Amino acid sequence: MSLIDESFWDALQDEGVLLLPPGDVLETLRMIDRPITTTILDPWYNSGVGGVRNDYIEWLVLILTESARISDHIFLWGFPEIVYRVLNHIPEGLVFNTWLTWYYKNCPSVQRGWRSAQNACLHFSKPNAMIYPEHFLNEKQLRKQAEGKLRYIPGPTSVLEAPLEIGFVRKHEQTGHPAQKPTRVFEPLIKMTTKEGDVVLDPMCGSGTTGVVCESLGRKVILCDLEEEYVQLVERRLNITRWGAKQRIARKGTSKKVIQSIIE
Ligand SMILES: C[S@@+](CC[C@H](N)C(=O)[O-])C[C@H]1O[C@@H](n2cnc3c(N)ncnc32)[C@H](O)[C@@H]1O
Repeated sequence: MSLIDESFWDALQDEGVLLLPPGDVLETLRMIDRPITTTILDPWYNSGVGGVRNDYIEWLVLILTESARISDHIFLWGFPEIVYRVLNHIPEGLVFNTWLTWYYKNCPSVQRGWRSAQNACLHFSKPNAMIYPEHFLNEKQLRKQAEGKLRYIPGPTSVLEAPLEIGFVRKHEQTGHPAQKPTRVFEPLIKMTTKEGDVVLDPMCGSGTTGVVCESLGRKVILCDLEEEYVQLVERRLNITRWGAKQRIARKGTSKKVIQSIIE
């Protein structure tokens, strides 16, 4: 029986955030049988932490293809000099929209300068996917828009500037995950592509940054990661328990005797 069934989707509506037990990204994507508005794909980068795989680009294209089956929007992160190769293999039905750059001035790398202080984020979507630049309007702009006097709608910039959360930078937010992204970097992606109540998926969620952002913006979110250590980290960070047999049985009101027999 699949871990993702009717009771999972009911629980997502009630809880807002669901964390799956440790699992591989492709398995997670293949289990999901309902539409997702936005999928965040932030894998290891095939350089440094996480090691190197020879089939990295083929693997990314496979992940992108599975994501395209269910998602309106997909954001794929990576080192620019590596991830750009995916653009030669865009799965059918997806359109490449934007090349976003996260620029962090406080990069500790010995190689100084712009080149070694950035991550790329490729935004793909289905041709009819909705975007919401109006989510970035301030009060004054919203008033003008209501009066029909707003001449253009400013969206987010394509360079997202936010420091790495290392050393003293937002120390209280640091989880110890080696590649934690700042919430400020994910926020514009979610705001631009979703509205309240929409479902976001992050199947390689690391420290759960997507979960923090979605909770604060009122989006539903499904999280997963391969590593038990990071699933535990997300449980602590978001104060949640992973989705699993015990919760599903308890939620459905199964008798204590049956639950006890399954737990044992
Ligand atoms: C760059 S980190 C994600 C960081 C995250 N966005 C954050 O802000 O904390 C990449 C994550 O992908 C996970 N990962 C790598 N390979 C995976 C796989 N095959 N399936 C699921 N997760 C995987 C790693 O365990 C790691 O936590």
